[in-house]
Amino acid sequence: MKKIEIRTKSRNYKVIIGNDIISKFSLELNEIEGKKLFIIDENVFLLHKSKLKDFLDKSNAVIKFIFHSTEKNKSLSAVKNIYDTLVENRFSRNDSIIAIGGGIVGDVSGFAAATYMRGIIFFQIPTTLLSMVDSSVGGKTGVNYSNLKNIIGSFYQPQKVYVDTSFLSTLPYPEIVSGSGEIFKYAFLSDEKNYKFIREELRKVLTQNYFDENLIACCIELKASVVESDEQEKTGLRKILNLGHTFAHAFESSLNFRIKHGEAVIAGIFASLIVSEKTGLISNNDLNKYITDFYYLPLSKKIISADYNEIIKFMKTDKKSVSGKINLVLVKKPGEIFIDFQVNERVIKFALKKLYEIIRTV
Ligand SMILES: NC(=O)c1ccc[n+]([C@@H]2O[C@H](COP(=O)([O-])OP(=O)(O)OC[C@H]3O[C@@H](n4cnc5c(N)ncnc54)[C@H](O)[C@@H]3O)[C@@H](O)[C@H]2O)c1
Repeated sequence: MKKIEIRTKSRNYKVIIGNDIISKFSLELNEIEGKKLFIIDENVFLLHKSKLKDFLDKSNAVIKFIFHSTEKNKSLSAVKNIYDTLVENRFSRNDSIIAIGGGIVGDVSGFAAATYMRGIIFFQIPTTLLSMVDSSVGGKTGVNYSNLKNIIGSFYQPQKVYVDTSFLSTLPYPEIVSGSGEIFKYAFLSDEKNYKFIREELRKVLTQNYFDENLIACCIELKASVVESDEQEKTGLRKILNLGHTFAHAFESSLNFRIKHGEAVIAGIFASLIVSEKTGLISNNDLNKYITDFYYLPLSKKIISADYNEIIKFMKTDKKSVSGKINLVLVKKPGEIFIDFQVNERVIKFALKKLYEIIRTV
């Protein structure tokens, strides 16, 4: 079992990581005064019924709220349903919400917790790889609105996060790939040692379905170090977490979301590395090394059906673009990242062409 301490301006909290640890948490919850609303992903509830039943019984659980996780349900009306349950059951500030699920359950529940009575106690139990290594830590909460992703939200840190890796036993392969995209970015965010560690451990995740808790801890520590320095994205440092994401969002939009976010992030990071080489930040040898090192990451063939101009149009409307100029996060070497690097369309087209050639050959 591992413990990571996160220190932000708004709250300090612990992330506990281990296999089958929620029984420990139920004992702890039992001692917490107040009512508890459990918001549980529907698939997780069905797939882990006996374990959760035991957990809920021991936790002195009051209410269960089963959540069907889709981007469509990541909405204000879902938040309203949560508020209704809280009001009906007279929840006060001393009561708690406990989110059990992936990033969708975490983001929606966190937003409800942040806004109900200006903030009630909130715990996270992430159950997807993506939510374990990324979304459950850092305090971003929110919902989609008017077809815009995460456009309404708040920063609200949880009280504690319990990462129980035993939930991963039922996670479908496409969701493992989705989480892998976010892990891939961490390889470039600190140093050569972590780069090598992530390269090796991520390969085991994808080829052997093996999840080392040290890998999950490493990603959480890297995210924590960024969030601790720039909790609310004020200094710009937090933008390094967006490596590959401007391309990724454009791939997702161009393909009408027929591709998983993590798959798009994997291709987006490769495209960003190609741009890094084209703009002289890395050598051709380095680019080839990075591509070879991560040869095992799946590159979706769907991407090559997206039109270059369409992708560029979406990149220009990205949140990070200013006055139609494309700003990217680029790499010089692991641990040396450039944010807001302005790139012209010619370079983007070059990168897409090269990325598509790579995808065709795998
Ligand atoms: N807050 C943040 O910092 C942050 C960061 C990254 C992503 N996000 C958000 O996270 C969301 C994506 O999260 P996600 O990838 O976890 O998706 P998700 O919550 O939709 O879960 C993916 C699917 O896996 C199922 N599932 C969850 N746990 C399972 C398990 N243990 N076994 C079997 N099935 C399981 C869910 O029912 C769902 O169908 C997006 O909305 C994204 O915007 C937030």
